Amino acid sequence: MFRIAVFGVGHLGKFHLNNWKEIEDVKIVGFYDPDENNAKQVNEKYGIPHFNNPEELLDECDAVDIVAPTIKHFELCSLALRKGKHVFVEKPLANTMDEARALVKLAKESNVKFQVGHVERFNPAFMALNGNILQPMFIEVHRLAQFNPRGTDVSVILDLMIHDIDIILSLVKSNVSHISANGVAVMSNTPDIANVRIEFDNGCVANLTSSRISMKKMRKMRLFQKDAYISIDFLNKKTEIIRLDAPGDKNVFTFDIDTNNGKKTIAIAHPDVQDSNAIKMELEAFKNSIINNQVTPVTVFDGFSAMEVAHQILNKINSNQ
Ligand SMILES: NC(=O)c1ccc[n+]([C@@H]2O[C@H](COP(=O)([O-])OP(=O)(O)OC[C@H]3O[C@@H](n4cnc5c(N)ncnc54)[C@H](O)[C@@H]3O)[C@@H](O)[C@H]2O)c1
Repeated sequence: MFRIAVFGVGHLGKFHLNNWKEIEDVKIVGFYDPDENNAKQVNEKYGIPHFNNPEELLDECDAVDIVAPTIKHFELCSLALRKGKHVFVEKPLANTMDEARALVKLAKESNVKFQVGHVERFNPAFMALNGNILQPMFIEVHRLAQFNPRGTDVSVILDLMIHDIDIILSLVKSNVSHISANGVAVMSNTPDIANVRIEFDNGCVANLTSSRISMKKMRKMRLFQKDAYISIDFLNKKTEIIRLDAPGDKNVFTFDIDTNNGKKTIAIAHPDVQDSNAIKMELEAFKNSIINNQVTPVTVFDGFSAMEVAHQILNKINSNQ
């Protein structure tokens, strides 16, 4: 039986508890949360032991799931790594780059599995693209959310945009060459809305807008590459691929148009999007990486790279103020 301990059972932590309960051969040995009232309620509702001492909980588990506020990630990850426990930590990896650097070092030395909760990698609309060659040269992203004080302990860059930064870095296998960015702190003390342009050595350009002060929600990414346009709707779980000449594809509607280069066939495909639960899939993937001794799907290095770009963006924004 795989023994997991959960640190932080606030908004997202409760979802994690529910999902761990559904994963086979997992025992939730207990949780730690310093909010006594919340801990009592969770203990009563879920019947899972509440530990007052994090060290004692660590002694009981094989792996930890850290769903505490970002400012606590470093402290909790370090504690777990020093005890040789496998770590799943919510995104972003840490609050500062110094903390992130120290965690990478510690994770390497500890020789355990380490996964960062960049859950959009498991969004079924994104996973529906598995098997397609993705080589975008222009990327347009909008991630808009309504205001919620939860999460405003960090900027919209570390709160929301980091999801898209991680996805983009997983797609564009090239170094970042230049970043332009602007952001405004409208409601909180850190930027609540930002627009960013990331240029890569291979010529790819990504244009990202993130907001947590919008009236409407949106989580869309559009990829443009040679002969194809791909749209991923992370919120409504829809994926569309429009490309030149795709004979034999499933779910494809085609039509011909005349161009300066002669007649072209345009194919519009809607790949099957599974009705899957991204949080359950990421936690299950973490467990399987440990059991099968495989690399986790979102490593500490991935978490670090996303943070590195996020902090370059924050530095640009700060230098513009
Ligand atoms: N992947 C995603 O899409 C996503 C979405 C929301 C939040 N998050 C991340 O999850 C984390 C938690 O966010 P949330 O919205 O659940 O916050 P929350 O404030 O609702 O819950 C955090 C919980 O952690 C507890 N806590 C505080 N200090 C702790 C400590 N030292 N040890 C253990 N628990 C502690 C708090 O008492 C609280 O119950 C954040 O890092 C956030 O960035 C990720």
